[in-house]
Parts: sequence; C-alpha cells; structure tokens
Amino acid sequence: MRLLILGTGGMARGHAGHFAAIRGVKVVACVDTRPEVVTAFAGTYNIQKTFTSLEDALDWGRFDAVANVTPDAVHHETTMKCLAAGKHVFCEKPLATDYAHAREMADAAEAKGLVNMVNLSYRNVAQLHKARALVESGKLGTIRHIEASYLQSWLTQPLWGHWDKDPQWLWRLSTAHGSNGVLGDIGIHILDFAVFAAGMAPTEVFCRLHTFPKAPGDRIGEYVLDANDSFVMSLGFENGAIGVMHASRWASGHFNDLKLRLYGEKGGLELTHRLDGTELRVCLDRNLEKAAWTEIAAKPVETNYQSFARAVKSGVTREPGFRHAAELQRVLDLAIAADRHNAAQSV
Ligand SMILES: NC(=O)c1ccc[n+]([C@@H]2O[C@H](COP(=O)([O-])OP(=O)(O)OC[C@H]3O[C@@H](n4cnc5c(N)ncnc54)[C@H](O)[C@@H]3O)[C@@H](O)[C@H]2O)c1
Repeated sequence: MRLLILGTGGMARGHAGHFAAIRGVKVVACVDTRPEVVTAFAGTYNIQKTFTSLEDALDWGRFDAVANVTPDAVHHETTMKCLAAGKHVFCEKPLATDYAHAREMADAAEAKGLVNMVNLSYRNVAQLHKARALVESGKLGTIRHIEASYLQSWLTQPLWGHWDKDPQWLWRLSTAHGSNGVLGDIGIHILDFAVFAAGMAPTEVFCRLHTFPKAPGDRIGEYVLDANDSFVMSLGFENGAIGVMHASRWASGHFNDLKLRLYGEKGGLELTHRLDGTELRVCLDRNLEKAAWTEIAAKPVETNYQSFARAVKSGVTREPGFRHAAELQRVLDLAIAADRHNAAQSV
C-alpha cells in the first residue's frame, strides 16, 4: 500500500511510526498546510514527497490510501475529496464534528466501495477484546450496570506541552475551531471502549457538559475557550442496562486513564488502561461470595494500522469502520442536545 499522511502534527508521528513498521506499506508522501511543519516531518520519517495542499497531492495521485490526521473539523471536507478521488481512507477520530457529516462520509465510502476505517485507538488494547469475549461467552450473565471514565490532566500539568501556547491543544478548547470539547475528543474513545466491550448500543442518553474558566476573558489570541472540558453522562442500553460515563481534562493525578466496569448477575469485570500499563480483572462464580478479583491475561491483537493495511490489501473494510463511528457520533450529538435541553434524548 502506498500511503499519504494528511496532517503532520502531533498524532501523525504515531501514524508514520506504525505504518513504516508494516511490511508492504510505504509512506510515499505527506501534506500539511504549514510548509515548515511538513518539511520537518518528511525529514524525520524519510518521506520523499511533500505538499502544502491536499488538492496538489491528489493531482499527483501516486498513492492508494490516505491517513487523515488533520484536526477534527477538517476530517469531513478532506476525506470527501479523498474518497471522490478513489482513495481508501483511515481517518482519525472523531470521524466528523456531527452525525450528518459522519453519515455522509460513511455513505460516500460505501457507495464507492472504498476501504474506510477510523482510528479508535483503544481497539489496540488486547484486554478490551478479552473483555468483549468474556461478555459474549455469557460468563458475566446479562449486563445490568456499566461505569466508564476517561481522565486526562493536560489542563493542570505540562506532560504533553503547554495548553495555553500550543495550537495542538488550543483548537481542542474552541468550538469555533470545530472542537466538541472533551466530549468529541475523548468522549468518543470511552464511548467506543464501553460499547465495544459490552457488545450493545445505547438507546437513551442524558449529559451535562461543563466549561471551566481558564484564561482572562476566556480567550487566548484567536481561540475562544468555550468548548466543554468535563462531561458526565448517563445512558440506557438496548438490553435494559444502565450506565454512567464521564471524562475530564482537569483530572489532576491522571495522565491518560481509561476505566471500564461491567456488572452482570453472574460476575463483574474491571478494565484499567493507563500509560504505564493495562489490567483486566474479573470476579466470577464462587468468587462472588468473597468479592475476590483475579487478573486475566489477554493475547495481543492487531493494531488499527495493521488492520487497515490488511483491509486495503483485501479491499474489504474492517472494524471500526466509518458507519460504526458515525453511529457513535450520533450519540455524541444527542449528548450535546441533552445538555442543551436538560432532558434525556432517545437514540
Ligand atoms: N486516536 C487517537 O488516540 C488520537 C490521539 C491524538 C489525536 N487524535 C486525532 O488526530 C487528529 C490530529 O490531532 P493532532 O493532535 O495531531 O493535531 P495537530 O494540531 O497537532 O495536527 C494537525 C495538523 O494538521 C494540519 N492541517 C490542518 N488543516 C489541514 C489541511 N486542510 N490539510 C493538511 N493539513 C492540515 C495542521 O497544520 C497540523 O499540523 C485529530 O482529529 C485528533 O482528534 C487521535
């Protein structure tokens, strides 16, 4: 597969590294609207060709697929152009900034028969697949209660840089720059995490979004800091289960921590994923009487990058595809509506 990387900012480094390590994949070109950024990126990853516009890259055309690593608000317009040019697309999450755009992207990819996948990167976590298999096997019984959280703290410590100086963080804080805040940025991840493991879709959503003051006048330069940075959500699921989900960028003491708890009448499951490791624990069978938990191992799984390369080779989209990501986007849209109307929304 000859791959073009579109957008050469922070996350593109991961794409370049992962794709370069896959046999049969060559990153042949990269695009960024900032000339100095694309030149430096091409130098670091030894990429032969650079462009400062997608249109110029499409005119050149000598690639099979695109990794779209542009900011959220740019995904729709650029992906539609790539699909129109007959290119397979691996798009960063969230697929779009609203359901209408996400659905349009899924429709276009399917109509053209092109491979379309979304980088919901926690699908790379082996223990998540093991959790899903445990639920599917019936070992936990019917799932009744779900708890999921995604906690970051880049507004309170500088591990990933200074949020008040770097555009990479500032666009995430501004609705005018196309961000749906923490809900769109990592809410999409934790929603996928929970829905994938539980194997069922939400049917009802209620949500509170909150934006905290963080700069004088809630503004830094061109960035109006109005995007939500904490949310709490309650959900109903198709089998009658209920759940809570929350995420924040203000979670001091947590760099990047995902937690999922699933409870059924036969057992409980707890999955913790952090930068320093992952743990899957269960309480099953006779251990219920002692509330004793045991750790469960999981076999490594293919990454989304490997899966996309395989999908392009076979011509068949693999999960997570655009359609799935669009359905998740629908839930996020309804969460925003629930916050606005202060009332639960049916999916
Ligand atoms: N899957 C994950 O775990 C994960 C992690 C981080 C970021 N992301 C996603 O990756 C995407 C990029 O995030 P980031 O942190 O790398 O942002 P970033 O701001 O660091 O990089 C985006 C780059 O795109 C460039 N760009 C903007 N418009 C463009 C256009 N029209 N054509 C070409 N280039 C353009 C910018 O100049 C910038 O260099 C976002 O959608 C984000 O949500 C996903």
